[in-house]
Amino acid sequence: MVNIAVLGYGTVGSGVVEVINTNYESISKKAGQEINIKYVLDLRDFPENPIQEKIVHDYNIILNDEEVDIVVEVMGGIEPAYTYVKSALEKGKSVATSNKELVAKHGSELIALAKEKDINFLFEASVGGGIPIIRPLNQSLTADEICEITGILNGTTNFILTKMRQDGSDFEDVLKEAQALGYAERNPAADVEGYDACRKIAILSSLAYGRQVDYEDIYTEGITKITAKDMVFAEAFGYAIKLLGSSRRENGSIYCMVAPAMISEANPLYSVNGVFNGIFVKGNVLGDVMFYGSGAGKLPTASAVVSDIVDEVKHLHTNIMTRWSSKKMTLADIEGSKKRFYVRMEGSLSGRKKEVESVFGAIAATEIESIPNEFAFITEVMSEKEYKEKAKTISGILNRIRVDR
Ligand code: HSE
Repeated sequence: MVNIAVLGYGTVGSGVVEVINTNYESISKKAGQEINIKYVLDLRDFPENPIQEKIVHDYNIILNDEEVDIVVEVMGGIEPAYTYVKSALEKGKSVATSNKELVAKHGSELIALAKEKDINFLFEASVGGGIPIIRPLNQSLTADEICEITGILNGTTNFILTKMRQDGSDFEDVLKEAQALGYAERNPAADVEGYDACRKIAILSSLAYGRQVDYEDIYTEGITKITAKDMVFAEAFGYAIKLLGSSRRENGSIYCMVAPAMISEANPLYSVNGVFNGIFVKGNVLGDVMFYGSGAGKLPTASAVVSDIVDEVKHLHTNIMTRWSSKKMTLADIEGSKKRFYVRMEGSLSGRKKEVESVFGAIAATEIESIPNEFAFITEVMSEKEYKEKAKTISGILNRIRVDR
């Protein structure tokens, strides 16, 4: 029997306990041993709940108990999670975590520490909720050079964008619904400003390239400026608006970005709706592969955490190598990245078409749409820098969104 301790009895922590209890027998068989939840650390007490007999308030009880082999960190945030995880690894206890902030910031250090101690630091749940993506990148796609990872990596924003499009719902109302369903972060800015997706693409990029991609270096834009009118125009052009985290090799440089994008039906991410996440990976020999599933929520996330616990039980004193060095990867300046741009402008199309074409070049009739007092069009391919320079010379731009493939 292997004893584990769960740090945090919130949405994910209670999910981990539920998953282990629900599938106790099959999980034990797959792990090769029974898994016993010896402690649950939380500041709170749960008097009416059977979990209360496992609740402790002092982390040192867990740290100093030599019977505990695995610590499950599902508290979120950097501190005290970082201190707890580091001290657990130093004591020879493997760690499974769902904490993307922790992994994005301290991943390479904690991976190195686990390797030194011949134990494991696993983080499948940190990206894509219940979708297996960390293990495939680390263990399955090893024959390939990864050329591109583009993903819908945040369930809350995908839920909001889907509802805005399907029901014409208001941004704030849908956000409240996502919070009630347990998808959203405690601070919703982390979701809607793109910070959560930014940490996730930083983790995936670091694993894909084997070097540290700092999330602070990734250009990040959220969905707060997307309006009902953008949804109407996107539909008219045959596009869906998605918040994409992307990492691409182009001419020897790596471009990383988080931003809303318009994508067409031909893009495999087009049909990824609601709280679902989708992650598209391109390998130089494999070609395209797509991962799809529940990207947030209690049980899907807990399922990924428990899969790490099982792997750690199977490899109690053997390190599963993860290639993620602390050597920093320098990202290319996105000013050089080339895209088409959707531009929404004030005024009448007939009155401003000539002016717009004098700045952005000729626009095909199928790539321009208008509503009373506003119109929108799609530019030719140009760099971010070129777009910015052109946009500066014309007034009345209400919004612009990149158009992806
Ligand atoms: N707030 C995150 C999301 C939770 O909406 O995707 C899962 O990481």
